[in-house]
Amino acid sequence: MDYSLLFNAYAAQHGQQGWSRQRLLHACLRSAIRQGTLAAGTALAPSRALAEELGVARNTVLYAYEQLASEGFVQCDRRGTVVAAVPLQAALAQSAVPLAQAGLSQRMSNLRCSQPAAAPGGVPPPASQMGAFVPGVPALDQFPLAAWRRLLERAWRSLTPAQLNYGDPAGESPLRVAIADHLRAARGVVCDATQVFITDGTQSSLDLCLRALADVGDTIWIEHPGYAGALAAARGASLNVTGIEVDEEGIAPQPDDWLLRPPRLIYTTPSHQYPLGSVLSLRRRVALLDAARRAAALIIEDDYDSEFRHDGAPLSAMQGLAADAPVVYLGTFSKTMFPSLRIGFVVVPVALAPGFAQMRAHASARGRVGEQLALAEFLHSGQFARHVRRMRRLYRQRRDALVMAVQRHLGARVTLQGMSAGMHLVLCFKDESWRDEVISQQLLAHGIVAEALSAKAVQGGLALQGLVLGYAQVPAEQMDELIRRMAALLPPETTATARTSRRAQRKVKA
Ligand SMILES: Cc1ncc(COP(=O)(O)O)c(C=O)c1O
Repeated sequence: MDYSLLFNAYAAQHGQQGWSRQRLLHACLRSAIRQGTLAAGTALAPSRALAEELGVARNTVLYAYEQLASEGFVQCDRRGTVVAAVPLQAALAQSAVPLAQAGLSQRMSNLRCSQPAAAPGGVPPPASQMGAFVPGVPALDQFPLAAWRRLLERAWRSLTPAQLNYGDPAGESPLRVAIADHLRAARGVVCDATQVFITDGTQSSLDLCLRALADVGDTIWIEHPGYAGALAAARGASLNVTGIEVDEEGIAPQPDDWLLRPPRLIYTTPSHQYPLGSVLSLRRRVALLDAARRAAALIIEDDYDSEFRHDGAPLSAMQGLAADAPVVYLGTFSKTMFPSLRIGFVVVPVALAPGFAQMRAHASARGRVGEQLALAEFLHSGQFARHVRRMRRLYRQRRDALVMAVQRHLGARVTLQGMSAGMHLVLCFKDESWRDEVISQQLLAHGIVAEALSAKAVQGGLALQGLVLGYAQVPAEQMDELIRRMAALLPPETTATARTSRRAQRKVKA
């Protein structure tokens, strides 16, 4: 604690009232304790040292300490004079200069956030939840932590003093090379390392892209329902958001959308639409690329969980469909490895690389060289591919167990969507009167996280009501019991849905 700074600042504010130095020091320390600047348990400086530091008589300090002790703000123990645990409210109630009187609350009320930050109904911050059925979180207990620790250790051992300086703004070169190699082989992305920019994950990639590719007021299309992170980034960049409907073939813009709301950017999740899970058909991909090219729009392809394809052959990335595809490709290691790694990447068309390099030079991410080098080695050595293969098998098993459990306990009341890939599926309600936000809250009260589909709405409400269930973290053997519990908490089957489902069952038997 810099007592001189504390004391001089206090004296500058209150010293003009003709107080003695004893009284001033006592008031200064008391105010610092009340405001938490001197926290409970902090040992104050010994009286002799403090007197020297402040250039006052030792008696002045002793007087102040005694006063504080008699008021209960400090107590003496073997460490000397120690700040006591004073409940904040009690301390504020005794405040000699109440905050409002000091004009502080008035001054604070002049502070305000930007319009996007203060917008009503803004996107709530994502909570860090675990367990059944939190979407988007991989099986963290399956990550090869020991191998990763060894790679980190090796990377840190190899670092030179020069590598402790700010890192390359575009990311460490070995990692950019490893990612480009991986994407060409596994996703059909057409790129080399100079097009790859390392970020702190998709959220940071989106922020970077929107700053680099759009101006305030430009129109961005976002799938509706869609990824709240994309919506938050677009609002943060003061873009004009148009929600574009999604069907079983993926994002489905209408001729009027192109005509009346032409986009500068189009955000899409073609491999596994988030959250509905449809895969953008080849026909739609080609049409979207053509139309985007004609409208001079850029597509932001978020390929967040394409590594986990469970049924059918994987479609390669849109970015690789044509050599000059107007696509910026985003990837993340949050799903394939773990979210707190906070490493993602953007692959930009060659023509945009200099602009991105310029943006990146002034961005915050220019560090974590050790982690980036370890990740490059994780990719090069084949450990990444091995881990992804193992997780793909595990998630498929978990998905199968979930689908069976839903069919057994809820089959008559719901339909399933988006099961062919990824780490989540959507449970759609057959009964149109069920409200997913209400049901989601009820389930949460019983310890089951099942996000409402409506929470993913980008523009207005959603006709389809349902729940997004992430299954990657849930062991297959727990699935049946969890869904049985969920089924008991959902409204019973209505006569109308019962009739429809009996008819459907008879059809299946026939
Ligand atoms: C559609 C989508 N994209 C990307 C991500 C990953 O974001 P990040 O890399 O910031 O963890 C998620 C996470 O749930 C997601 O749902």
